[in-house]
Amino acid sequence: MSTPPSDEKRTHPDRRQALSRLALLGTAPSALQLLMTGCSSPDRAGTDTPPARLSASTPYRNGAVAADHPIASAIGVDILKAGGNAVDAAIAVNAALGVVRPYSCGLGGGGFLVMYSERDGNAWAMNARETAPPGVWESYFVDLRSSGGPAEASRYGGHAIAVPGTPSGLFLAHARHGSLPMKDLLAPAARVARDGFPADDHFANAVESLRRTRERLPWTKTISKWTWTQWCHEGAVRAGTLVKNPALGRTLERLGTEGISAWRSGEIPKGLARAARASGGKLNANAIAGYRASACTPLVIDDAFAGDTLVTMPPPSSGGIALAQILGMHEEHLRQAGWPSAPDLASNHQLVEAMKIAFALRARYLADPDFAPVPTEALLEPAYIEELATTIEPDRARTAKEIGLATQLPEDRGTSHLCVIDRERTAVAWTSTINGTFGSLVGDPVSGVLLNNEMDDFTTSLGEGNLFGLRQSEWNAPEPGKQPLSSMSPSIMVDEAGRVRAIAGASGGPRIISGTLQVLLGMRYWGRSASEAISAPRLHHQWMPDAIAWEDDARGPDDGSALEGMGHQFEKTSRGIGVVQAIRVADSGFEPASDPRKGGTAAGY
Ligand code: GLY
Repeated sequence: MSTPPSDEKRTHPDRRQALSRLALLGTAPSALQLLMTGCSSPDRAGTDTPPARLSASTPYRNGAVAADHPIASAIGVDILKAGGNAVDAAIAVNAALGVVRPYSCGLGGGGFLVMYSERDGNAWAMNARETAPPGVWESYFVDLRSSGGPAEASRYGGHAIAVPGTPSGLFLAHARHGSLPMKDLLAPAARVARDGFPADDHFANAVESLRRTRERLPWTKTISKWTWTQWCHEGAVRAGTLVKNPALGRTLERLGTEGISAWRSGEIPKGLARAARASGGKLNANAIAGYRASACTPLVIDDAFAGDTLVTMPPPSSGGIALAQILGMHEEHLRQAGWPSAPDLASNHQLVEAMKIAFALRARYLADPDFAPVPTEALLEPAYIEELATTIEPDRARTAKEIGLATQLPEDRGTSHLCVIDRERTAVAWTSTINGTFGSLVGDPVSGVLLNNEMDDFTTSLGEGNLFGLRQSEWNAPEPGKQPLSSMSPSIMVDEAGRVRAIAGASGGPRIISGTLQVLLGMRYWGRSASEAISAPRLHHQWMPDAIAWEDDARGPDDGSALEGMGHQFEKTSRGIGVVQAIRVADSGFEPASDPRKGGTAAGY
């Protein structure tokens, strides 16, 4: 296992300020804890170990892929069978998802990858998150609005577009860990783009969602013209309609044969910049050419939950920190409750309260650590997480205001997660996004690439929620080159012997965190198979708005009245709580599962 990340240059410059802010959230780590590095955990032995509950065995012994589209999963397994490793397969699956789920991810977006190799115990992560283009500033969207621009400028059109990171990420992952030629890895996606594929229900729903956006905001009709024609057939796409994008196929072929240089110079960056500029965006060809994905040290959190190590994504993802905090707080509860064998009222209440705390901390502290003093290490200190757990009242829901700061009151289809494991038990979790459904709605006919609206993941206006209703701090305001805070949570759980136990991640904005969390808990604690863990109904609380979103049946047999009696409020949601892909590693083999909420199918051999 590689060493935990060091925080040396990222520790909060004003620790007294950090202390007082944390204190407002109920409890504070000591100054000594704030100065400590690493995420070492206390000795947890004997009764601290929960009982093992493993269920059904699994058929796959050589490799498995869980993507949110059956074509993508099948392509991944083909690459594994052809001798590719998990990273090779993940590259091919990622490229394919950009074709068959074009409203979720693709070359015009960004993402995070986490990898763990059981053979040598090494963990690796990659940051291919989009960056703000040159020429934006902190109050960019507020100023746009006050000068007569549309209120939704951070969501649709040129201003919403950040510099794409996925192409550079594909090539960095390949350079570091790939084994087959890039041409062979991009060829299946290029073929699907050129020859076409049948749309499924989820695709048709995304088209319907864009139709509604165009009706609600008629100014988006002009900017989405190419997307509406190319991907949506002017609204005529139904389940079964053959959809293709030959221009995207050619771009993928060119990347395969010419390499990343085809993305960085010539007609591709020029065409993308032209498309962004046509609706006022700041994206330019130099920024596209200059983008570099980076390798980074993943968050490796020993004994994050029940003895398992969590290998996950550091900031600018908020997902890794939030997952570790909620898992840590929840373990405290489970231990005190005598390791219950099924979720009950007390565990649901505690989980929701832990989510509220983690999301309040997210709103206050998390941002791009290259631009803001993110106290990662302090937020992950085990003693601090235990203290946070003690602030949860067992029989009463605290209000969002009590948990957070009185002064700061404040439908996702645009992300896709994939998991791969190969014969050597190298595990890859990769979440990619263009943010909202069909991203900015702006695409380029020459390259066939659809551009993201990741600028909406910045704090575009203090005190207001973003597309997902998330409140965020001034640290997350736009600046050129800065990466917006993300919830993407690609995660791998490894047992005390260094064996991969579970891989997971999700789409769904902030629901990524709660979806991934509940599936990991299901697989690693509640004894569920991967598909049982994914199918189980889920809850979500993001601190603000101060209400639990729930899926049918997630409130329990009493329809939530016991939770309501404790002070919880419920908010009906038509959306699922994230779309999760996962692989559980059981003694008998690999058990991949794709979320039925998006119609995915996993594969293996
Ligand atoms: N665009 C969704 C996220 O990064 O959290």
